[in-house]
Amino acid sequence: MRRAAILACLIALPALADDRVTGFEQMSSDLQMMQNDPFANPGQFWVLDGQTLWSADPGTGAESCAGCHGDASATMVGVAARYPAWDNQSNRPVDLEGRIELCRTEHQNAEPFGRESAGLLALSAFLTHQSKGLPITRPEDPRLAPWLVRGETLFTSRMGQLNLSCAICHDDNAGNYLAAALIPEAHPTGYPQYRLEWQTMGSLSRRFGNCLFGVRATSFAAGSDEYIALELYLKARAAGLAVESPAVRP
Ligand code: HEC
Ligand code: HEC
Repeated sequence: MRRAAILACLIALPALADDRVTGFEQMSSDLQMMQNDPFANPGQFWVLDGQTLWSADPGTGAESCAGCHGDASATMVGVAARYPAWDNQSNRPVDLEGRIELCRTEHQNAEPFGRESAGLLALSAFLTHQSKGLPITRPEDPRLAPWLVRGETLFTSRMGQLNLSCAICHDDNAGNYLAAALIPEAHPTGYPQYRLEWQTMGSLSRRFGNCLFGVRATSFAAGSDEYIALELYLKARAAGLAVESPAVRP
């Protein structure tokens, strides 16, 4: 995707001709079928666990998630499609997993699940599933503008011992092969997702960590400013593409 098109996303000009390709569209038909079949998609186990956790008593005397938020299939539709979003209390954007952890600690007086834990991935998959098929929305809150710029800077800066930027692979070489792997355009449409290489569900932060490891750069922590900025930038770049969680990827 051309840089001009990305900037157009950020400043919300009318969409240009859409030549974007998602990771789903690049997969073999076998993997596409696995993702589309709820009985074959392993990510559905996390969605079901998340549904159970949604109504579970946190054991602290506080309400369950459902106790405050009601039926997720009504109240949570479209929410994941517009994250990361601004959190007034911490005065910074939070990703969906960060938001769940805040509710856990602030509103349920419970211990956080922990990043990449089964419980957090399950709730995140369950909530994102409520937005399946809906378009990712442009982050329009003006307070996010500097974060988007920071995300673009990170995406286009060379890093690691291999001295490569995300953009060199995902803008300039998308569709080419890197060893046996087809380089996608890096649209975050399907997170959390089931990766065959992981043999489990993983977050977008984990995916970022894989790519940073690939260029021999130090990864950042889930929920860090760097990952929130990168996610915001990628969401702006993917605005209009449909949420497809739980996705399956090789
Ligand atoms: C005591 C009530 C309460 C409980 C229990 C609670 N939340 Fe929340 N939740 C809120 C409030 C209030 C907000 C708005 C942000 C704020 O003020 O903290 C919110 C915001 C959210 C949002 C963002 C919604 C949006 O439109 O941006 C999500 C997602 C969410 N909660 C998920 C959860 C999950 C998952 C749980 C269970 C682990 C949970 N919440 C438990 C009160 C609660
Ligand atoms: C050397 C090339 C390369 C660089 C540099 C790189 N990636 Fe990737 N990335 C890949 C490949 C290849 C995949 C496909 C997965 C695989 O098979 O490893 C991928 C997958 C992804 C995906 C998953 C897309 C999907 O469909 O789920 C995201 C998101 C992503 N990269 C983001 C980034 C970000 C952010 C950076 C910079 C911090 C980055 N990548 C740097 C090669 C790269």
